[in-house]
Amino acid sequence: MFSAQTYIQRRNQLKKQLGSGIILFPGNSESPMNYPANGYHFRQDSNFLYFWGNDEPDLMAIIDIDNDQDILFGNDLTIDDIIWMGNLPTMAEKIEKNGASSTLPITELTKIIKKALQNDRKIHYLPPYRGDTILQLSGLLDISPEKIKENVSVNFIKAVVKQRNTKSPDEIAEIEYATNIARAMHIGAMKMVKPGTIEEEIAGAIEGVALATGSRLSFPAIYSVHGEILHNHYHGNEMKSGDLVVNDSGAESKLHYASDITRTIPVNGKFTSVQKNIYNIVLQSQLEAIENIKPGIKFRDIHLITARVIASGLKDLGIMKGDIDDAVSSGAHALFFPHGLGHMMGLDVHDMENLGEDYVGYDSEIIRSEQFGLAYLRLGRKLEPNFVVTVEPGIYFIPALIEKWKAEEKFTDFINYSKVEEYMDFGGIRIEDDVLVTDNGYKVFGEPIPKTVEEIENIVG
Ligand code: GLY
Ligand code: MN
Ligand code: MN
Repeated sequence: MFSAQTYIQRRNQLKKQLGSGIILFPGNSESPMNYPANGYHFRQDSNFLYFWGNDEPDLMAIIDIDNDQDILFGNDLTIDDIIWMGNLPTMAEKIEKNGASSTLPITELTKIIKKALQNDRKIHYLPPYRGDTILQLSGLLDISPEKIKENVSVNFIKAVVKQRNTKSPDEIAEIEYATNIARAMHIGAMKMVKPGTIEEEIAGAIEGVALATGSRLSFPAIYSVHGEILHNHYHGNEMKSGDLVVNDSGAESKLHYASDITRTIPVNGKFTSVQKNIYNIVLQSQLEAIENIKPGIKFRDIHLITARVIASGLKDLGIMKGDIDDAVSSGAHALFFPHGLGHMMGLDVHDMENLGEDYVGYDSEIIRSEQFGLAYLRLGRKLEPNFVVTVEPGIYFIPALIEKWKAEEKFTDFINYSKVEEYMDFGGIRIEDDVLVTDNGYKVFGEPIPKTVEEIENIVG
């Protein structure tokens, strides 16, 4: 955990933002896989981690703003718990670590909330994303489960986003650490890949690197020769000479800060000239995007700069045609680059996505577009110092999408479908790094990870 002072300051800032009422934080519980005692790995709620730091299941907390009380609720272990799980920290030890004013058994929370409701006090809570939390809130607040999401506190959401979007030096150090674990995962995978191996052999090794550092993956690894399937979690393909493989994987630090890195590598260690041409367009677009990162620039504008580099590179290869600015403003390039350039990253790999992407990545000035491709951009707003973002352009040849657009005669002024058809089996390429917005520019997290054609060919195989 960070120092108790960190959590006290974070809660004080939140109190100031919200002004009055009770702020309710349900921590996560264990989540059963196939019977209650056989759980998925425990992951604490990120807002609970941010404001309280405690990384154990079955905790709840409130900040009673009007009475200036920060209370952690939970039960001390019974002798049976100790027999099966050993001696874990007591509730008194937990509040020593996070600076809360007191701790009470979990049953006391019900009484406090009931009394607050009788007195018509405002109870702020965030949108829950787990069924058991919805039921817990429903019972506590006497609101039907269906109506829980309608009654969330928008002021609480906005206050959390404002705090968590800007990372402190301690948080930046955690992300640096997580990125260097990801670096080891990626370099290890580059050294292992060879024709005839099955994706899962490498995917397992990638996860093993994270586990062996006492960390975990920050999301299920994407490791596939079908890079054109954007979030492909299938790892059963045999990798063949001539295939490209997309490795999109990251780790969490021990305090659960994420990294999220993508590299695309040739299975036999050498890019073909066709692969190299497409790879270098993606690389150039990613480097130009990173170069443009600084406070005050809209991330949507960087996304569009990237899209123009991609469209222009594809035009040089005869795949696209016509005026590049017109092609990008009409959205024609999204046939090949159908997703957003990146997203905020922090305690969640897609930071605070559970609170609502538009609260995190957009504001009253920048509204999300409805155009295909641009609509998937998770982050459009102006960048500020100490934001942490990913930069992850890609070029994909998605047969179903190409066939659909061709049949609809979509963007025939900008897309040369007969040329595109030569690339039907190409797959996809994505390159992703994690970037800190500094006071006047940017810093890429972590020690460098091989990225140019030459660097990758030197390490693979
Ligand atoms: N790892 C998923 C993403 O890059 O957004
Ligand atoms: Mn990402
Ligand atoms: Mn990724």
